[in-house]
Amino acid sequence: MVQLEKLFNPASVAVIGASRTPGKIGYAIVNNIISSGYRGNLYPINPREEEILGKKCYKRVGDVPEKIDLAVISVPAALVLGVAEECGQAGIKNLVVITAGFKEVGKEGAALEEELIAVTKKYGMRMLGPNCLGLMDTHTPINASFAANSPLRGEIAFLSQSGALCASILDWSLEKGLGFSKFVSLGNKADLNEVDFIADAAEDPYSKVIVGYIENVVDGQRFVEVAREASLKKPIILIKSGTSKAGAQAASSHTGALAGSDQAYETAFKQTGVLRARSMEELFNLAIAFATQPIPRGDRVAIVTNSGGPGIIATDNVEHHELKIARFTKETVEKLRKNLPPEANVYDPVDVIGDADDRRYAFALNTVLADPGVDNLLVLLTPTATLDPLKVADVIIDVRNKFPEKPVVAAFMGGTKVVEASEKLSRNKIPCFPFPEPAIASLAGLVRYNRHRTTAKNEKEYTFKGSPDRVKEVFQRVRGNGRVVLLGSEGAEVLTHYGVPAAPIKLAKTPEEAAQLAGAMGYPVVLKVASPKILHKTDVGGVRLNLATAQEVEKAFVDILDNVHHYLGNVEICGVEVQKMVPRGRELIIGMKRDVQFGPLLMFGLGGIYVNLLKDVSFRLAQGLSQAEIERMLRETKAFTLLKGFRGDEPADIPAIVETVGRVAQLVRDFPEITELDINPLLAYKEGVSALDVKITIAS
Ligand code: COA
Repeated sequence: MVQLEKLFNPASVAVIGASRTPGKIGYAIVNNIISSGYRGNLYPINPREEEILGKKCYKRVGDVPEKIDLAVISVPAALVLGVAEECGQAGIKNLVVITAGFKEVGKEGAALEEELIAVTKKYGMRMLGPNCLGLMDTHTPINASFAANSPLRGEIAFLSQSGALCASILDWSLEKGLGFSKFVSLGNKADLNEVDFIADAAEDPYSKVIVGYIENVVDGQRFVEVAREASLKKPIILIKSGTSKAGAQAASSHTGALAGSDQAYETAFKQTGVLRARSMEELFNLAIAFATQPIPRGDRVAIVTNSGGPGIIATDNVEHHELKIARFTKETVEKLRKNLPPEANVYDPVDVIGDADDRRYAFALNTVLADPGVDNLLVLLTPTATLDPLKVADVIIDVRNKFPEKPVVAAFMGGTKVVEASEKLSRNKIPCFPFPEPAIASLAGLVRYNRHRTTAKNEKEYTFKGSPDRVKEVFQRVRGNGRVVLLGSEGAEVLTHYGVPAAPIKLAKTPEEAAQLAGAMGYPVVLKVASPKILHKTDVGGVRLNLATAQEVEKAFVDILDNVHHYLGNVEICGVEVQKMVPRGRELIIGMKRDVQFGPLLMFGLGGIYVNLLKDVSFRLAQGLSQAEIERMLRETKAFTLLKGFRGDEPADIPAIVETVGRVAQLVRDFPEITELDINPLLAYKEGVSALDVKITIAS
């Protein structure tokens, strides 16, 4: 793991490009470091100054008598290389490069950035930026940035690929009273990137939750490894922008067409336990929930309200987020019934009704939270003349302190009457919202994290020992024929070398050979035109089913060639494939598309000709895919209901399907040269499976 200790907690800092002129970035950085209460030694570097903000100034970093842990560079882009070189010579190991004018401005900037990376490598320096706002650590404390203010101390580690967003979040957080442990502007991520900071924050005792805004991930495979480990230690919540569907159109396989460019991110986040926020609001609602609440033990929510409508809205949301309405014990129900007015609802959601005051709330909240069937609590309040919201806020703070292991959130619905009470709750670490929906969404985030942490803890990658040498031979043969698309028979061969059963299929060059192969295989058989250029064989009369004799086979061979030539003219044809007719089973699809960032992305779902129409599919990355994760992948589809046995149907062999997905995952991990793969359909039987149509494309 990269050690970032000296970046966040340096004993000495040089600011190169420090300035005496207020309003300049070089001034702001020095000023922020001083006013953040930094206790180490600070050295402004400026060739023309003697002293800046009361600190002795040096002409060059090499002139400083002490060893420097961190250099913050804010000289114009043309000077950065020279300055970085001087830092290297002075033995500095950590750089923050604020300067813009690198990769983000085009080709020349990108070349300059490459040179900068080379200098940092030469001296073994680690670099944040360039083109960033800087970094802050409230526990060191240090604010080595040119932001307009310093964050409050807290437990949220925040990283952002946008410097401007950093600046506005920071300002907003001060108004909200929200604190941070670390605050990092990632800039161009030329060296250190989100993964380094996630790994660092995962080990940081002052950070309880990791929150970030990213536009991309630099190294997908490393992200998966690190995020998987880190999310078992603490929650990671990311918002990722740029979710366009561009790129999906170009793909030729079903999997390629169904997996847009965002799918791999979505999958990587889900599989590694990273919570993905859909909006900035959700990002910080979740951040606050995790920073202030314990991780719940389960998904059962109790709601206490003084009005019916909001209670129903909240209940709907509980269901929407796959949480559960708590079922109270008999004792709880009895106790509520005895002590609440007869009009009150004593089942969840508990309605203490419109004339409730703080004492009635106190009774209901204490009773409900003491129930062992309650994992989470939402308190709803609408302002009435019979209660003082501030007193209810005190009651909530009091019960939260009595039951510290259960998350408590609130929605005080109103404006002027509830503003003070809401603020009091927030100050006392109870998230309070104006409406029930974000309150339930916050609880849902906590529950989702708990689910992931408990299920993913001991899961290991599913592995299978295939015969890679045999697969290599097939690929060599295909390339030798000047192709990159495997014929169905070659695809089936590859699968069988990885333990995936496929319906027997062989290539014939002549009608006679086809009849001979059919005889050896046993009738009935199917004939399919074999051509890397034909994607939909049936559409061009290229498939004949249920052939029972040698004569039928020979005739079908000739017919198929005639049909294909009729439809497509002189298209490249390798022959006709003879496949054994197999019994009908449930049609599934298993596919793979190789993602540039995250490697092989697997797809599972309902197969057959309606795949693209019904889109009943789920995705997982092959990297680190465990058996339990494959089972979850299957369960996500509607097809799974059919597989379990729908309306008296016999169930399909689900363990065999799970194994098949695992073996395909192993195959595509072992062979990075497989760019796309589709098994459609994979027939699932009561016992076993059989791959009927296999399409594999390899890199040239
Ligand atoms: N060593 C140390 N200091 C040097 C130096 C050197 N080799 N060469 C020049 N300096 C001094 C300058 O004299 C100046 O100090 P002064 O104010 O006393 O004159 C200071 O360094 C800065 O140089 P200057 O030429 O005035 O540049 P600048 O302050 O106008 O701009 C940057 C420098 C880095 C701020 C600018 O190039 C830049 O990149 N701005 C955008 C930053 C940004 O947006 N980052 C991304 C945020 S998300």
